[in-house]
Amino acid sequence: METKVWRVDPKSPDPEAINEAAEIIRKGGLIAFPTETVYGLGANALDETAVRKIFAAKERPAWDPLIVHICNLAMLEQLVEDAPEKFTELASRFMPGPLTVVMRKKAIVPDAVTAGLPTVAVRMPNHPVALALIEAAGVPIAAPSANKFGRPSPTTAEHVLHDLAGRIDGILDAGPTQVGVESTVVDLTKTPPVILRPGGVSKERLEEVLGEVIVASRPPSDVEAGLPSPGMMPRHYAPSVPVILADGNPSELLQVIERLKSQGYEPNQIGILMPEGWLTGEEGLVIFRWGRWSNWEEMAQRLFEGLRWLERQGVSVIVAPLPPPIGLGLAIRDRLTKAASTNSATNCQGNSR
Ligand code: TXA
Ligand code: MG
Repeated sequence: METKVWRVDPKSPDPEAINEAAEIIRKGGLIAFPTETVYGLGANALDETAVRKIFAAKERPAWDPLIVHICNLAMLEQLVEDAPEKFTELASRFMPGPLTVVMRKKAIVPDAVTAGLPTVAVRMPNHPVALALIEAAGVPIAAPSANKFGRPSPTTAEHVLHDLAGRIDGILDAGPTQVGVESTVVDLTKTPPVILRPGGVSKERLEEVLGEVIVASRPPSDVEAGLPSPGMMPRHYAPSVPVILADGNPSELLQVIERLKSQGYEPNQIGILMPEGWLTGEEGLVIFRWGRWSNWEEMAQRLFEGLRWLERQGVSVIVAPLPPPIGLGLAIRDRLTKAASTNSATNCQGNSR
């Protein structure tokens, strides 16, 4: 199929483009659209056949459930058995915003969306294009990140087209996304609540509302043991070349680079996510200017673009220093650790519950 591209203003998108895209959603098609975090690949969440097309286009295994996107809280009532009190507090503070909440689902939500789980993950994206699309479609929109399964999430329309051109009906292109890492996924069916995936709302900010929260630990390397959340497979967000992590300071980063050189890598085969002002004397390396170290928002915004850009330069290996687990640093660590994992995501198939 041909993938139609609508260029739209991120703040006030052309209603004609929105209506055309919404009509495709209502008819059971697939539309990629921007959110404040990353681009999503949307289908009518209440249409099982349409939802299955998402899995086919992304080559995503059916055991990995999708987030359902809503444009107002009234839409939530369709989807969720009485939302807990904590949800109301979270919603008033973070919705719309980069937060996804897992709650008990109603029967109307197809098993294809939730991978058969009794829960559904819901979020209200903070992006005028996403909100306008959901509103115009008049249905909740199920949407994973609009990348091929296991690849770095897309923060531009070009990233989406690189992975999915010809596999989806259209894309609303509103330029690069702001947050750059996906939403925080928090499970409210557990006490205390559990962060299944760190993301755009930091743990510190969630704790201001929820009190104690637990960050689900990384899955054991023995995937037979099962995963706490289907999305917690070890290898994910990965470019096509290996990612090597360094401790978060210039001298540790330099040591990793020296080690790679001693293993026979030429400098121009080594790509670096380089914080501003680090290792300025090193010649010949392929440098992506990542942003100011300790400005975790800026580095989160540029993370996936950096991985994809370095991949396009044809490097053989990508090296990145790991930020501390502070603020959005926690989400960056999570994505980089998974990108660097050598444990294939597909190993988890069938073992997730
Ligand atoms: O920012 C985002 O969240 C983006 C944009 C497009 O909204 N979406 C996104 O979707 O990142 P995806 O499919 O790439 O990641 C969804 C995550 C997965 O880790 C999945 O396992 C988890 O949410 N998830 C979805 N439903 C769940 C459920 N019922 N219980 C536990 N985890 C769930
Ligand atoms: Mg994803």
